[in-house]
Amino acid sequence: MINGFDPAAAPELATGLAPGLADLVRRRAELLGPAYKLFYKTPVEFVRGSGVHLYDPEGIEYLDAYNNVPSVGHANAHVAEAVSRQLLQLNTHTRYAAAPILDYAERLLATHAPELGNVMFTCTGSEAVDLALRVARAGTGQTGIVVTANAYHGVTSAVAEVSPSFGPGVPLGAHVRTVRAFESLADGVAEAIADLERHGIGFAALIVDTIFSSDGVWTDPLGFLRPVADVVHNAGGLFIADEVQAGFARTGEAMWGYQRHGIVPDLVTMGKPMGNGMPIAGIAARPELLAEFGARARYFNTFGGNSVCVAAASAVLDVIEADGLQSNALLVGRYLRDGLTELAGQHQAIGEIRGAGQYTGVDILNAAGQPDGELAVAVVNGLRERRVLISATGADGATLKIRPPLPFGRSHADQLIEALDSALSLSNADAG
Ligand SMILES: Cc1ncc(COP(=O)(O)O)c(C=O)c1O
Repeated sequence: MINGFDPAAAPELATGLAPGLADLVRRRAELLGPAYKLFYKTPVEFVRGSGVHLYDPEGIEYLDAYNNVPSVGHANAHVAEAVSRQLLQLNTHTRYAAAPILDYAERLLATHAPELGNVMFTCTGSEAVDLALRVARAGTGQTGIVVTANAYHGVTSAVAEVSPSFGPGVPLGAHVRTVRAFESLADGVAEAIADLERHGIGFAALIVDTIFSSDGVWTDPLGFLRPVADVVHNAGGLFIADEVQAGFARTGEAMWGYQRHGIVPDLVTMGKPMGNGMPIAGIAARPELLAEFGARARYFNTFGGNSVCVAAASAVLDVIEADGLQSNALLVGRYLRDGLTELAGQHQAIGEIRGAGQYTGVDILNAAGQPDGELAVAVVNGLRERRVLISATGADGATLKIRPPLPFGRSHADQLIEALDSALSLSNADAG
């Protein structure tokens, strides 16, 4: 895992941890087992969050330029009040009639393309993708799925099979083909569909994260998904836009990543920022697809779309609108990338800078100008020492991933750039 804490690889670091942290690390290993990973060479413990900041047990403040789940800010008061009010009133499931879920559905669907007339609720993005795959397969009668080469779509058995970023330890399904995210995507998808068909597997759907986050953040040129959607539809398949990363105003240019590209997907999956940390996710769909699915299957998700999570999700939309977070994302994202471009003039290690709104990828290069995953992880850890949180992404982990809560402002961007300048200066000195 990129930027994972590995006590086995560096026992001297594990033994050098502060006693309180060392105890937490030991108890995690004992209680939670080995599949859970901590971030950073020296993990960090947090006890409180507020806005774009997190605080460790000593009260030391960290700038959060990484977490997109608390997208309207950590410990947002409007969301917290909506959740506690609803908890004290009613919290039940989708088998009783109630107005709030319908009011929220109307509000949410109004942000989507008019062709997407239905919404279904789940608890996690993985469940949403899992459901979208079921709907797509029911709607087309086919099973073949095309994904990008380093895609991540989640954790259920079916979804792990379409998530190549897990690496060779988690096999892809026999009905799955991969395409490179950033070059001739439409041609790649056409070849992948042909290859499925050559193996007797009918094509059901292409699923893409519309900001290609785990593939290294690919945002431009605008509209590059249009010919891809044409290839998919001409082959009789469906386009699934995974908006778990790009959605809910993050790109600044639109509420949803697919809208930046001027396409209308057949299915959309949503999650992470939807409830600002309350577990709510879901799909938006063309009604005719759900008609086909619903004729064969019923759907009930015990916690999916419960009253409290719907209250949280509705409060999230309130804050996005009231605080102008989409335009803030647009303006601050541009400001940040302008600052990074200026900084690139002083640091050979900074390569291409890509992004939209509050989603930025920065390629990190070695002295020969090649992607350098080790240096990128060193930079991520250098920023952690300077109390700024980011991560790295891409197949070789050589792209810095900057994805803060949406209220991130210009002064926060300045702080990040200053810390990056300092971390890169130190890395250069180390290399020299
Ligand atoms: C693009 C994308 N899709 C789906 C998921 C799965 O969401 P969850 O972790 O809520 O199951 C993720 C999670 O990181 C994601 O990034």
